[in-house]
Amino acid sequence: MTPLSHHTTRESGDEPLLSVEDLTVHFSVARAGRRALPWSPKATVRAVERVSFDVRRGETVGLVGESGCGKSTLARALIGLVPVTGGSVCWRGEETVFGARRDIGQLRRDVQMIFQDPLASLDPRMTIGQIVAEPLKTHRPDMSRAEVRVRVQAMLERVGLNAYHLQRYPHEFSGGQCQRVGIARALIGEPRLVICDEPVSALDVSIQAQIVNLLRDLQRELSLSLLFVAHDLAVVKAISHRVLVMYLGRVMEFGTKESVYGAPLHPYTRALLSAVPTPDPAVERTRGHLLLRGEIPSPLDPPSGCVFRTRCPQAIEACAAEVPAARAWPRRPGKVACIRVDEHPS
Ligand SMILES: Nc1ncnc2c1ncn2[C@@H]1O[C@H](COP(=O)(O)OP(=O)(O)O)[C@@H](O)[C@H]1O
Ligand code: SF4
Ligand SMILES: [Mg+2]
Repeated sequence: MTPLSHHTTRESGDEPLLSVEDLTVHFSVARAGRRALPWSPKATVRAVERVSFDVRRGETVGLVGESGCGKSTLARALIGLVPVTGGSVCWRGEETVFGARRDIGQLRRDVQMIFQDPLASLDPRMTIGQIVAEPLKTHRPDMSRAEVRVRVQAMLERVGLNAYHLQRYPHEFSGGQCQRVGIARALIGEPRLVICDEPVSALDVSIQAQIVNLLRDLQRELSLSLLFVAHDLAVVKAISHRVLVMYLGRVMEFGTKESVYGAPLHPYTRALLSAVPTPDPAVERTRGHLLLRGEIPSPLDPPSGCVFRTRCPQAIEACAAEVPAARAWPRRPGKVACIRVDEHPS
C-alpha cells in the first residue's frame, strides 16, 4: 500500500457517513447598543436552525447560501468547534456527544477541516514539513520519523508541491500554495470526511479552478467525502454530487446537483440561479443575485413562518403562518422547504 492509497476499497452500502438531524446553533449576545455585561439583557442569534442532511461515503456535498446564512457555524458545529444548541450529529451510525472525549477523539481523526484563509491557518513559526507532519503526531504515534518523512513528502507531491518546499515557511508561499499545504495537512492522517469552508474564496479566480480540481481529484482517488462550503454557485457546481441550499440558518433545498441546478424548485434556489448560465464565470457569479430583493434579514429576528418570505417573489399570506417542512417531492431526489412547490410549473 502506498502512503496515499487509503480508502481505496470503498465500503459497501449507501448508508451515510455523517448524518445530521435538526442541528441548531444559537448564540447568546448582548442586545444591540448595550455593553456586554454578564447581567445585560440577551438576544439570540439563530445561526443554524433545525438543519438535517447527510453525507455519504465518497461523495461531495456542496453547501451554498449568501454570506451570514450560517454555513461556517454549521460546518464548525459538526466537529464540536462551536457548541450545539439542539439536534444530533451521527458519525458512522453513532451519535457524537460533544464534550465527551471518547467520541470526539475518533471524530477529530476521521474529519478534518480546510479553512478560507490559507495563510492565517498555518503556524508562521513552523516549516511546511512540520505543519504537514503535525497531525501524525496525535493520530499516528506508531509511525517512525522516517515513515513520517516519506508520507509527508508523498503528500506534498500529491498536492503539487515538492521536497524542496519542506524547509520553507508559510510566508514564502502564495495563497494557492498555502492552500495546497492546508490540503496536505488535512489529508495526511487519512480522514474520511474533509470539511472545506470556502477553501477558494480568498484566492484569485485563476487559482480557484486549480484548487477545486485538486480537491475533486483527491476526493475521487481517495474515496473521500467532502462537505464543500461556498457562497459561489459556480464553484459548488464544479465539485458537488449533492447540494444543500441554506438561507438564514435553514435548509431551503437539498438534492442532487442535477436537480438543484437543472430544475430548482425552491424560489430561493431559483433566484440564486436566475441568470441564464453564461460561459463567463465572472458574469454568472454576479447575475444570480440581481433578482434577490433587499438584504438578508437579521438572524436576531428572523421572519415568522418561512424565513425567505420577505424576499420571496411567490410569498403569500400563508407563508407567514408556519415554517415549511423540508419535504420530498415525487420523482425527484432530495427535499424542498416551500409550501408552494406543487404550484410551480416544472
Ligand atoms: N460566535 C458568534 N457569536 C455571535 N454570532 C455569531 C457567532 N458566529 C457567527 N455568528 C453569527 O451567525 C450568523 C451566521 O454566521 P456564519 O456561520 O459565519 O455565516 P456564513 O459562514 O454563512 O457567512 C451571522 O449572523 C453571524 O454574525
Ligand atoms: S414558503 Fe412561501 S415565502 Fe417561502 S419560499 Fe415558498 S412561496 Fe416563498
Ligand atoms: Mg463563512
